[in-house]
Amino acid sequence: MSTTPSPVAASIIGKATPRIDGPLKTTGTAEYAADFHFDRMVHAVPVTAAIGNGRIAKLDASAVESMPGVLLVLHHGNIGPLYRTVPGDDNATNSEVRSAFEDEVIRHWGQYVAVVVAETLEQASAGAAAVKVEYEAQTPNVNMKLGDYDGKRKSVSKRGDPDAAFASAPVKVDAVYNTPVETHNPIELHASVAVWDGDSVTMYETSQGVVNHRVVMAQTLGLPLENVRVITRFLGSGFGGKLFPWPHAAMAAVAARRLDRPVKLSVTRRMMFSSVGYRPHTEQHVKLGATREGKLLALRHDYLNNTSLLDDFDEGCGEATPHLYSVANLEVTSAQPRRNMGAPMWMRGPGAVPGLYALESAMNELADELKMDPLQFRLLNDAEKDESHDNIPFSSRHLRECYEVGAKKFGWERRTGGIGSMRREGKILGWGMGGASWVAIQLPCTATVEFCAKGRLCVRCGTQDIGTGTYTVFAQVLHEKTGVPLDRIDVILGDSGLPGGPMSGGSMVTGSVLDAIASGANNAIKRLQQIATSTDGSPLKGASLETVAFTGGRLHKKDQPSTDGAHFADILSAAKLARVSAEGKTTPTWEDPKSKGYSLHSFGAQFVEVEWDPEIARLRVSRVVSVIDGGRIINPKAAANQISGAVVMGVGMGLLEETVYDPRTGQPINGSLADYLVATCPDAPDIDVTFLDHPDPIMGEYGARGIAEIGLAGVAPAITAAVYHATGVRVRDLPVRIEDLLQSKIV
Ligand code: MOS
Repeated sequence: MSTTPSPVAASIIGKATPRIDGPLKTTGTAEYAADFHFDRMVHAVPVTAAIGNGRIAKLDASAVESMPGVLLVLHHGNIGPLYRTVPGDDNATNSEVRSAFEDEVIRHWGQYVAVVVAETLEQASAGAAAVKVEYEAQTPNVNMKLGDYDGKRKSVSKRGDPDAAFASAPVKVDAVYNTPVETHNPIELHASVAVWDGDSVTMYETSQGVVNHRVVMAQTLGLPLENVRVITRFLGSGFGGKLFPWPHAAMAAVAARRLDRPVKLSVTRRMMFSSVGYRPHTEQHVKLGATREGKLLALRHDYLNNTSLLDDFDEGCGEATPHLYSVANLEVTSAQPRRNMGAPMWMRGPGAVPGLYALESAMNELADELKMDPLQFRLLNDAEKDESHDNIPFSSRHLRECYEVGAKKFGWERRTGGIGSMRREGKILGWGMGGASWVAIQLPCTATVEFCAKGRLCVRCGTQDIGTGTYTVFAQVLHEKTGVPLDRIDVILGDSGLPGGPMSGGSMVTGSVLDAIASGANNAIKRLQQIATSTDGSPLKGASLETVAFTGGRLHKKDQPSTDGAHFADILSAAKLARVSAEGKTTPTWEDPKSKGYSLHSFGAQFVEVEWDPEIARLRVSRVVSVIDGGRIINPKAAANQISGAVVMGVGMGLLEETVYDPRTGQPINGSLADYLVATCPDAPDIDVTFLDHPDPIMGEYGARGIAEIGLAGVAPAITAAVYHATGVRVRDLPVRIEDLLQSKIV
């Protein structure tokens, strides 16, 4: 991995730093939501609909209520009022419009119809299995041919006259690409533990956004905001599935209130496939036209994604299309046909990842049409300004450098264009590539930094660590600002009662929290300096503030070595103070005058090698070079880990992942980790990650943008291009199947 040397050689910013929470995780002492246990706690198990469309004719729980240990069965008839969240309230974003058990209509297979609460998990599971539900069933519509849609489409981005330009373009590609439903499969299942104290509830949650989760729960339960507290100390990932609350959380809260006992509800893996979101199916029609010399003339990107019956979920496949290339005539349109499926939800790199699968695939196909190297084709059409927004400049765009560095590392110049023309050790090699882009933004954030008389330093923020290293980033910035060693820094996150912080989503946390931590630290140091100069017994008593410095945890005169000063703990003790704290804030991008008139994105390039063994029809992604322009990298160790993980997920997207629905029942028929294939260690290629590490001048004091989700963008189209290069088989519907590969004529 290459990183540009940091200006301050000793700085911890930009230094590979092991996770400070690593020991807690590796010793099993980190507490995830379902790890919380309380006296008198009972267990809730949902009952899910066995049909995909229709209504409940009769729900009979009477026998269940007298089963051993069963305490309560909640359903439409007795859940009592649960409320919807206020539409358009950005601080109360919910996953589903409808609240739990709101009506007796079944809109998708696996919809919750009841929940059984019992003394033990086994008793609750037995009770849930015994609830008798009669349905009036109709055939569900889970048809994945979205192209049948003939309703309205909205124009997402438009310039010039793409249809006329396409019609007259001498070289073109006109193709439809499909990406299947993919289901978030974090290892940690969703869970809620609800504990009431009078009229107030504390929810231990699997939440990527405790602050938003709290507002949603308050609105759903009809409680004042101050009566709800949401805690997520650790997450075993989420991939977007845990951004917003799902109905099981309210079910747990209502059950706990009704019984006046703590209730734990853990969603099963099977339920993960029907009731907590998924990346919707996308069907994307791309038309590209170019001159014979390879200059783009026209780009049309018309996409469809399925949504549920009640929720309007737009996957946003046009996220990157309008600004990635220089092209005078462009339009992106979108529509969302409804299906009898649960609500879709953002999944790693939403919009851009499936969108770039289509766009970058079409770019690779057009390069083949032009008999041009796909890398040269991209360099020729690289955008220098954001043509989708009146040609405003990018805050920092080094995509060309990503391509050039990646090509060099990969050895791209050795590529021979002919299909099946590259061989190694009896296998056929395929080389493909793709570009990547992901939006950058600073979200509002407040952090409180506190110096304690015991010599510790503490920071509090209402964000959470999804597993990416957020705890460590906080500690790094504090160490940088104060010199206090990492093992004396306490990072407190994952509690909605803390000062407001961002969701762990959109790869936006790091870029959003840095300024708040840094300014919180600066403000807290100022207060220490004031105390040091005004406290009896302080060696700095009477000194003017401008002459006081703070180095390595010690306050001293600027013209003296820090060893002649006093440690902050001694200053606080002399002042008889337990602690001193100060707040810092991040100015969100939309309020920052500096960001006006700039287009903010991360960029990247993916180079992929596949090995094709035609004798046994075995395809393997053997090598990936990923070069990311994500602004300044704060922790290259955690950052590279994010990109490697995303590349492995890209292998899954290209070759394995697909949720399959039974057209008779609407049931996801591969709804288990045995049947839903994700890439695992043997599927993982050799991965080479490089960060360009150019600080973004618009992204706050540190210039860091997000670097997680972008690692997935561009991988799948690079894989399918490599597959074409090796086998001559053009796959436009993911994942690549063995049936596709068997069409290969190359031996
Ligand atoms: Mo990510 S899909 O923004 O959690």
